[in-house]
Amino acid sequence: MVQEENSGEAEAIRPPWLHLLSAFLSMEPSNSIISISRDCGGGAITESVQNFIWDHCINRADGKGHVPYIRSFLKKLILEIESEGAVVIDELYEQLAFYMASLKGDDSAKGDSRIIRKISFLYPADLVESRACQSQRKLVVPLSCSLNMLEGDTGCSLWPSSLFLSEFILSCPELFSKKSCFELGSGVGLVGMCLAQVKPSKVVLSDGDLSTLANLKVNLELNQMNANVECLHLPWESALESDLQDLKPDIVLGADVIYDPQCITHLVRVISALLTIKKSNSGQRDECFVASRGQSVAYIASVVRNIDTFNYFLRVAKEANLRVVDITENVKMYNFLPYMRSYQRSSVRLLEICYTFH
Ligand SMILES: C[S@@+](CC[C@H](N)C(=O)[O-])C[C@H]1O[C@@H](n2cnc3c(N)ncnc32)[C@H](O)[C@@H]1O
Repeated sequence: MVQEENSGEAEAIRPPWLHLLSAFLSMEPSNSIISISRDCGGGAITESVQNFIWDHCINRADGKGHVPYIRSFLKKLILEIESEGAVVIDELYEQLAFYMASLKGDDSAKGDSRIIRKISFLYPADLVESRACQSQRKLVVPLSCSLNMLEGDTGCSLWPSSLFLSEFILSCPELFSKKSCFELGSGVGLVGMCLAQVKPSKVVLSDGDLSTLANLKVNLELNQMNANVECLHLPWESALESDLQDLKPDIVLGADVIYDPQCITHLVRVISALLTIKKSNSGQRDECFVASRGQSVAYIASVVRNIDTFNYFLRVAKEANLRVVDITENVKMYNFLPYMRSYQRSSVRLLEICYTFH
């Protein structure tokens, strides 16, 4: 994980050039990067834009980038420039020719499905100004992800709700500061990396899939977070209520975990157990309030892909005495990912959940 202060390179590279670099590092689709390239060149992919792409993106990757991704981007970029009747700089042609010539012996082209995406959270200028002590302008989180969506039971890909939840955490750090946080279905772990930025008392990430958990540990290492963040194997189906209640988190988080109807009753049972605390002697549940009133709360971000599944979740949650409120429109969210054109922030809903007594 890289943090950049107000000086140095972060100062030198400004939007839209910073957006171009960030989009390349996060491995955005080629069309998005080409569109930002045009913004940089005032509508055309000029030679100075091409030189920037060469110097800051491709040449700087220095053999560490994912060759098939860069090759495909270069191909589309060159075609685009040629179709505009503009001049393509030699370096781009030569690099593409090099990749084409060396492709046959390139293992990464044959299907090594792991890639490192570097997600840059760019602090908006008004936020940097409004937080007097905020010297940070950029947070870069490298993440090992899979190119194959289904590898690791979906948990090795990055989902839009975790981008949203990460932006929520960085927008409202006071909600998480000095709180113990527990995430369900953590996947590649982006939410945990952002949580670690906002001074929580504890962060525990969990997932039910073992290959996802192994990848999550790789990501904690990549970000030097092993010492700050704990990992737990937690399949919702077999999680014991007594174990869950021992965890006693102040805040439960989850991103894109409401999608499989077969898991919903288990997911709700786990959330419910995490949000309630048993009185030590009687074994009865204490009352639960939202975090702002000092008690446990869950924040679950979700893209509603299937309305029946989502409504089923709401119904089961209600039966379990969970109060679910859609707070998407009520939170002041900053845009930390202005370059990420593939991410549709408006497709994500943010739910605040707490346990209620009747
Ligand atoms: C769609 S992915 C979301 C991953 C991550 N939160 C994100 O937004 O990028 C769903 C995650 O929930 C985990 N998961 C799904 N069903 C589960 C279950 N029954 N118990 C525990 N984890 C589960 C998956 O392994 C996966 O990591």
